[in-house]
Amino acid sequence: MPQPPHPTRVPQSMALYARATQLIPGATQLISRRPTRVAYGVSPIYAARAQGARFWDVDGFEYIDWISGIGAILLGYADPVVDDAVRAQLAQGTIYSVNHELEIELAEELCAAIPCAEMVRYAKCGGEACAIAVRIARGVTGRDKVLFCGYHGWHDWYLAANLAEDANLNAHLFPGIDPIGVPRALAGTVLPFPSGNLAALSDQLEQHRGEVAAIIMEPLRSELPPAGYLAGVADLARAHGAVLIFDEVSSGLRFSTGGAQQYLGVTPDMAVFAKSLSNGYPMAAVVGRRAVMEPAARMFISSTYWSDTIGLRAALTTLREVRRRDVPGQLWRFGQALKSRLNDVAAEVGLDVQCTGVDVHPHLEFGIADPQLKSQVITLYIQEMAKRGCHGYAAFYLNAAQGDAELAQTSEAARESFTVIRDALASHTVAQRLECAQQQDAFRRLVR
Ligand SMILES: Cc1ncc(COP(=O)(O)O)c(C=O)c1O
Repeated sequence: MPQPPHPTRVPQSMALYARATQLIPGATQLISRRPTRVAYGVSPIYAARAQGARFWDVDGFEYIDWISGIGAILLGYADPVVDDAVRAQLAQGTIYSVNHELEIELAEELCAAIPCAEMVRYAKCGGEACAIAVRIARGVTGRDKVLFCGYHGWHDWYLAANLAEDANLNAHLFPGIDPIGVPRALAGTVLPFPSGNLAALSDQLEQHRGEVAAIIMEPLRSELPPAGYLAGVADLARAHGAVLIFDEVSSGLRFSTGGAQQYLGVTPDMAVFAKSLSNGYPMAAVVGRRAVMEPAARMFISSTYWSDTIGLRAALTTLREVRRRDVPGQLWRFGQALKSRLNDVAAEVGLDVQCTGVDVHPHLEFGIADPQLKSQVITLYIQEMAKRGCHGYAAFYLNAAQGDAELAQTSEAARESFTVIRDALASHTVAQRLECAQQQDAFRRLVR
């Protein structure tokens, strides 16, 4: 942990963080909520409340949230329709000794919306749902090995990738992950494949012919996959008898009401949804073709809270609202406007930075070759934006509560922040202008 800067802009956050470090190993529950992911000592660490596109931190600052609850928020914070439905559900009790019809209603809704969905299981978190999908794929194929691309949670099946070769997760998660506590017996059961390279995937399937239960991957993140790539992966999976699983935990319903698979026109055997499914309430779904899902009836996959009606009600209401408000359409238009405004600002300021990537998930690309300088510039950007009420990384997670006011404030904040960066680069004073520790960009997403 870097030394906290003095003075800090966020003393209340820093005091809470100091308390947390004494009581909570690692201080936060999610690596993406570690303060070193943003501008440590300048960015907020603890929120007090949130509404719409914004949140307020414990130091009393207001922010536009460009991370949207690490992707969990799609309609906006405290959405009145979802929250009213949840409140009404609360009054009926949240969990029972028997089942609730909502499980079936939501399953019907998911099967109507998502191309690969014919049957559904529920969970609470994305990583947990990925573990269920992998269990089902192994159970249905009777095989053990899994090929993966990208990040799929914290469970043993996934972290076992670093038992065989300690750099296996470097490009997919982040370097230096020691799979402490993961049984060594799992070594060699899960292997990474590079994104966008069909020949490499084909070679791996040949090398492990007849042993691969599943290919699990994010279909996309912020760049479109090469033309024909995903259809080629689906063909390879079929040819080798492996179950193709799309991890849609982060893409969710942002690209289309039927998930990224509907937008991309490639239907996997199974898919996993979590974060944006229920607008911030814990909820996840594993969906898939009947032939793959039905054998799960014989597998031991069982947990008390997967029947919780708050998550079910929140997901059902969110799905309906996403469709009624055409949220994906709104995000595509808004993302395009954001990109074009930020690119105009960059041109006016004269800074070599591009807002690029698919419109629903844009990111900034600074034209700097030296990785150390680039990392300092990104930290300076995060710092300067935070001081101007915009919380985020150099990428933007959109939600439907963001509108004209957020666009105007963010482009003004970007104009001033880009100017600071331009001047710092010209005078070689980027490091000196940091009022925080250099950002540690934990996650390296292989699927962009
Ligand atoms: C693609 C993907 N899969 C799985 C996960 C894990 O989800 P959770 O944090 O809900 O366990 C994430 C979280 O960021 C993710 O982006």
